[in-house]
Amino acid sequence: MAEFARLVIDDKEYTLPVIEGSEGEKAIDIRSLRHESGYITFDPGFGNTGTCRSAITYMDGEKGILRYRGIPIEELAEHSTFVETAFLLITGKLPSRDELIRTSVLLNDYSLLHEDMRSFYQNFPRRAHPMGILSAMINALRSFYPELVDIDEELNKTFLRLISKIRTMAAMAYKISRGHRVIYPRPDYSYCANFLNMMFDNPVIPYHMDEDLERALNAFWILHADHEQNCSTTAVRVVGSGKVNIYAAISAGISALWGPLHGGANQAVVLMLEKIIHDGMDLDTVIARAKDKNDDFRLMGFGHRVYKTYDPRAKIMKKMCDIVLSKTRHEDPLLDVARELEERALTDEYFKEKNLYPNVDFYSGIVLRAMGIPTNMFTVMFAIGRLPGWIAQWKEDYADPEMKISRPRQIYTGATLNHYIPLSER
Ligand code: SDX
Repeated sequence: MAEFARLVIDDKEYTLPVIEGSEGEKAIDIRSLRHESGYITFDPGFGNTGTCRSAITYMDGEKGILRYRGIPIEELAEHSTFVETAFLLITGKLPSRDELIRTSVLLNDYSLLHEDMRSFYQNFPRRAHPMGILSAMINALRSFYPELVDIDEELNKTFLRLISKIRTMAAMAYKISRGHRVIYPRPDYSYCANFLNMMFDNPVIPYHMDEDLERALNAFWILHADHEQNCSTTAVRVVGSGKVNIYAAISAGISALWGPLHGGANQAVVLMLEKIIHDGMDLDTVIARAKDKNDDFRLMGFGHRVYKTYDPRAKIMKKMCDIVLSKTRHEDPLLDVARELEERALTDEYFKEKNLYPNVDFYSGIVLRAMGIPTNMFTVMFAIGRLPGWIAQWKEDYADPEMKISRPRQIYTGATLNHYIPLSER
């Protein structure tokens, strides 16, 4: 591997160090470039820019590989639980039995919301989007809990408080939006079972806990738990780089995830599929519109900045559709349309040439529908799953001596020197 890159600008040669990762990824370290040459690099959207060194998640977009702390996502989705995977991401190792028990006990201890926070919900319009509520509520947590004391125990309490309460906040937003009685977390339920119970239990028809659905929810959240430097994780790192409290950084991550190009795509996919069915759209027309440069319609749930092959999470999510639908004896016409769309897109030259494949969001909405999760809560489900990844990335950034406040440069294209003109002369 070359140890240096040589750059010639205006007949002058610059030598820039090369960095290599544990999986052989290489980068040119340009930290000295502007000081030495006066030049910066230009990379809107950071598609070719590494913003940090990270040991948390490894992705190979060409081979469709995704590993958390080296463990393949397929193994974790099959054998692990969401709480165990969260521990792995945040600490770097799988928990011992005692550590897992202690973590679960603390998650239960922290599962309630301060009663004063319940009144916040009363002031949101009933139809407020739950992502906006969640981002505000997570930010508000800072007002109820002390500033982070820089000791490991305090940090872990804060991490577990966030992971536990986000679930309670989400279910509370749903119940209050329906005008239903809020269901409190139960100490005898697991993390995922508690969420399902808080969402669907009610005084008239008690919720029947189904182990297969609980298992599917564990896998769903494991698949979403981290994804290296995606848009929302970058938001968490950038906001965190100013050394604001972690609640504010996570709140920024939730806001970034909300966008339909990012975590909001799972809701956009289902709305797209429903529209196709409702309008009786011909699938060839849908594919043609997605390819048409003059049409801003896109095949939501398709394409990815990193994966240039099938998103490994989408493969697992597609299998989960059958399991959850058969379990809930749910027939979902959206699944038939999704499968037909996928088949046509994957055989279409445009999608093949641009390496556009289903991503995690293409089938996830169908799994959530089968679980009874309302469409406007889909991205909230993504946020709950991604929270351990955001925390792990925030913690790594916070502790990294190499990291500084994020402050990119720009290429200015505005007016050159100008002068003020008094109003009387305009
Ligand atoms: C997530 O980064 C992560 O890791 C994200 C995520 C995570 O876990 O954190 O994986 C979660 O956000 C998944 C992505 C969810 N978004 C969608 O499904 C929305 C639909 N997809 C696209 O908007 C798009 O594919 C993106 C946003 C996902 C990626 O955009 P890029 O990398 O900026 O690619 P691009 O927009 O430059 O597209 C490249 C070409 C373009 O054509 P040309 O200009 O080269 O002719 O592919 C075309 C695009 O028009 N294209 C699509 C398309 N996606 C890309 N054409 C039709 N339908 C699509 N879905």
